[in-house]
Amino acid sequence: MAEQKINERMEKIVSLCKRRGFIFQSSEIYGGLNGFWDYGPLGAELKRNVKDYWWKAMTQKREDVVGLEASIIMHPKIWEASGHTTTFSDPMVDCLLTKNRFRADQVQPQSGVAYFYSGAKDATGKELSDAFSVLVQKGKPPESARKVATQFYEQRGMTGVQLLGERSELVENSTKYNPENGSLLTEARPFNLMFETHTGPIKSPENIAYLRPETAQAIFVQFKNVLETARQKVPFGICQIGKAFRNEINPRNYIFRSREFEQMELEFFIKPDEVAAKTPALTDVAEGEPQPNWGWEQWHKYWVEQRVRWYESIGLGRDTLDFYWQKKEELAHYAKATVDILFKFPFGTEELEGIAARGNFDLSQHQKFSGKSMEYFDEETRDKYVPHVIEPSAGVDRLILALVCNAFNEEEVTDDKGNKEVRTVLKFHPRVAPVKVGVFPLLKNKPELVKKAQEVRDLLRPHMTVFYDEAGAIGRRYRRQDEAGTPFGITIDFDTLGEKPELRDTVTLRDRDTMKQERMDISELLPFLLSRIR
Ligand code: GAP
Repeated sequence: MAEQKINERMEKIVSLCKRRGFIFQSSEIYGGLNGFWDYGPLGAELKRNVKDYWWKAMTQKREDVVGLEASIIMHPKIWEASGHTTTFSDPMVDCLLTKNRFRADQVQPQSGVAYFYSGAKDATGKELSDAFSVLVQKGKPPESARKVATQFYEQRGMTGVQLLGERSELVENSTKYNPENGSLLTEARPFNLMFETHTGPIKSPENIAYLRPETAQAIFVQFKNVLETARQKVPFGICQIGKAFRNEINPRNYIFRSREFEQMELEFFIKPDEVAAKTPALTDVAEGEPQPNWGWEQWHKYWVEQRVRWYESIGLGRDTLDFYWQKKEELAHYAKATVDILFKFPFGTEELEGIAARGNFDLSQHQKFSGKSMEYFDEETRDKYVPHVIEPSAGVDRLILALVCNAFNEEEVTDDKGNKEVRTVLKFHPRVAPVKVGVFPLLKNKPELVKKAQEVRDLLRPHMTVFYDEAGAIGRRYRRQDEAGTPFGITIDFDTLGEKPELRDTVTLRDRDTMKQERMDISELLPFLLSRIR
């Protein structure tokens, strides 16, 4: 897609999300806060459906995974043990002119002529020896570089700036300059992404705590408590959904990279390969079913496949996804393999979820830092070991964005009067759609129609989200629900009331995607809709 088309598509998606109440800028009336977002009524339902469906698939439908809901602020030693205090950082550079901050690895390389200055003098005789340089495109006059350099020295309190020691040099593919203004950037420095806070009334170094940057560590530190209370045996998993916070240098691509987001993480504890090898295979399991004697590679492949099937089950087909197997040199030192599941967003193919085989690094670290044993006694093999782990870790907000991008469609349709118009429709899978069904009396000024429609609404409401709408022409009401992604629409008309006696107590059921309508008995609505939304 050409860049302009991509931007147009993203702009339409962002505008629809705001207009229909999916996503709002956080603190909008105060000008917003970069990297923070709020979910409106439809967004909140969509998010809840996604999280509920993940939770169901991960824990309630499985024998071997249990859930956890831990606190966001935890003992700061946890982040020392996990390595976050020392290594959870991005390289950052600052623009020397505007002070804007960038991630060093995201600065676009540029070529041109670099003008160097050894310092400046001013009208009062003041002299500064701060070196500075500016990159300008080839062919541009030196004045454009001098203008930027003069601003740089003026910001340091000089007036009537006279630049000193100018020299120039051709530069190829340099990432040392701000692409927006040509100003020199600082050297890259590590910037820790954890948000710091203090517990208790005194702001002192001993009281420093962090907002968790991932939900995973709580699972590791509660491993023993869960093991002892949930009557599970390795292999088994603990999962958690919750907020995570990262002070990202450049939040970007709408809700794709934000500073406050939600994760859905599973830590699946397995036997070390040498112990698994001693465990007999189960005899009566279907092929592909998990087995306790699987080694880490089989478990890793298994979880990748499980997660892809889950994405398919909510409408993200395999053709919308891609996979990136991290190369050996890219892996964290303790990781044996990591595969990223990517989604083809309009702005590029980017990560939705990472699935890592992390060895026993995390539990071993917590054993070392806390002094508490994280060993497991395997009754079957009589071995004592620290379990290894496979970690599927997904971002809720990225998934919401993927679902909206995937669902967004503009179709040319012909209205009742033969006029062509563009229908905007969000084709969410019924399982995740924020509203499952719209209920409409054909006319709002006919009390019998309204009464019957309200009866249908009340019949369905205990089982699903229903939107009752009696305002405006029926076609307009359908379009409003198309934009909200509501998969079904029910209209109560005069036939429902028995105008044609054979159609008494039937309604029309409209399918959002095909726009086809069929007549259905009211008594069949609930089982039909439940079969489609579960
Ligand atoms: N425990 C492993 C872990 O946290 P990660 O790759 O850093 O791994 C996992 O994060 C997932 O969390 C990512 O695949 C992504 O979906 C989501 N995520 C990470 N940083 C994010 C951010 N700044 N904004 C939104 N989602 C983010």
